[in-house]
Amino acid sequence: MTGDDRRDGGAVRIGLLGCGTVGQAVVRTLIDGGSTIERASGHRLEVAKVLVRDPTKERPGIDPSLITTDPGDILDDPTVSIVVEVMGGLDPTLDHLQRAIARGASVVTANKQLLSRHGPELLQAAEAAGAELRFEASACAAIPVIKVLRESLLAAEITQITGIVNGTTNFILTEMSRGGLSYDEALARAQQLGYAEADPTEDVNGADAAAKMAILSSIAFHSRVRIDDVPHEGIDRLQAEDMDHAGSLGFVVKLLGVARLLNGSVSVRVYPALVPRGHRLAAIEGPDNAVLLESRATREIMLVGPGAGGDETASAVVADVLSILGTHQGSFLHNALVDAGRTVAPPGAVESAFYVRMAVDDRPGVLARVASIFGDAELSIRTVVQSGTGDQARLVLVLHSGPEARMEEALERVRALDEVRGEPVMLRVLGSGAGGDAR
Ligand code: NAP
Ligand code: HSE
Repeated sequence: MTGDDRRDGGAVRIGLLGCGTVGQAVVRTLIDGGSTIERASGHRLEVAKVLVRDPTKERPGIDPSLITTDPGDILDDPTVSIVVEVMGGLDPTLDHLQRAIARGASVVTANKQLLSRHGPELLQAAEAAGAELRFEASACAAIPVIKVLRESLLAAEITQITGIVNGTTNFILTEMSRGGLSYDEALARAQQLGYAEADPTEDVNGADAAAKMAILSSIAFHSRVRIDDVPHEGIDRLQAEDMDHAGSLGFVVKLLGVARLLNGSVSVRVYPALVPRGHRLAAIEGPDNAVLLESRATREIMLVGPGAGGDETASAVVADVLSILGTHQGSFLHNALVDAGRTVAPPGAVESAFYVRMAVDDRPGVLARVASIFGDAELSIRTVVQSGTGDQARLVLVLHSGPEARMEEALERVRALDEVRGEPVMLRVLGSGAGGDAR
């Protein structure tokens, strides 16, 4: 893709292979985000055709005239410059991608099973054809871990990757450890929410995580690691009893992918493990993923975020499309100069929860007067602590979320009370309450 594509004013035509959980979200993102994408990238993207198996299925929001069952409508159309593969599987997917690449189309894929088996040959074919192959969504969905490994940490000499890289199993384990859902119920829910693969066997037996670890370790260690090189165990043999024992011993159970350099060799494995409750990976819950990247220079960097789901994965797929288009000179500058016309919100409009500490006279009625000021400002009190006596008397309040402007007004009145001595101390409380809290 060159700068000429942008200059000629024509749309970039995208062909989609697959229109399930991820494919539908990609189409929605391209349509709903069209004007933002165009403003930020300088490219107008157009969905040319969408390949499916069953054209009669309900696909809300997808124009039926885009649907085809003939792969040639995409693979052989010279006006389709980028093919997005979100159909999964190996056969006929590999043939389709080879066919697209052979005619010079660039490919974006979310297919870890295919890449962990045929990644090197597809990359070589793309290089030979002068095309691009991008696959950010194949590992950890929305988390840009491949970009970080390929770009930001290229020179960091990674020594270990420890990851929770399957959203379905992390969701199941979280639900089971909370005692909310049984294994079967949690798996059914993960399928319903679009986290699981069409056949969830590879989620629960560790093969999905093994494929992702093969991809990540190939990039991190500049090696050729294939899924067959990754011994894997899943969570399918775990019992609720094991979760209970782990909990009472101070652990949580997680399905981990662990890749490390061992005397010049690469070792990559996937297994359920007991993680100490205080460890950073223990806090990763639900369908979230996390990847802990270790190197001597950077010590530990942890990337966390949604590891599965339609919209989440589509975000990475569309980012790959834009990264192919944005490789022409000047795009970084262009992105930095984009002005979406948004104004800067005044600080008083931002909502937060608050902690307030004040020194007060040690006499009756002080708390009532302070509380009524916050009540007038419609800031509700969550907790009050009174401590000390005499000169050491203190009033400490934690308030629910409200606009900063109202807190400033209330503090102004609190300061003016005869019983309040000195300047009250106000701190914001992270992440408690409605949207807009200090985060
Ligand atoms: P999905 O819901 O099962 O959708 C698959 C789509 O591909 C369907 O539209 C299906 O057509 C079509 N398809 C499958 N085989 C086909 C064939 N031989 N010819 C034509 N069309 C075919 O799967 P998904 O969850 O969207 O996942 C798609 C890919 O993204 C997989 O590689 C998956 O591993 C990967 N991925 C998924 C997630 C996630 O959270 N779901 C996250 C990251 C990566 P019909 O609609 O007619 O059945
Ligand atoms: N089935 C996968 C998971 C989708 O649950 O992690 C994301 O690759």
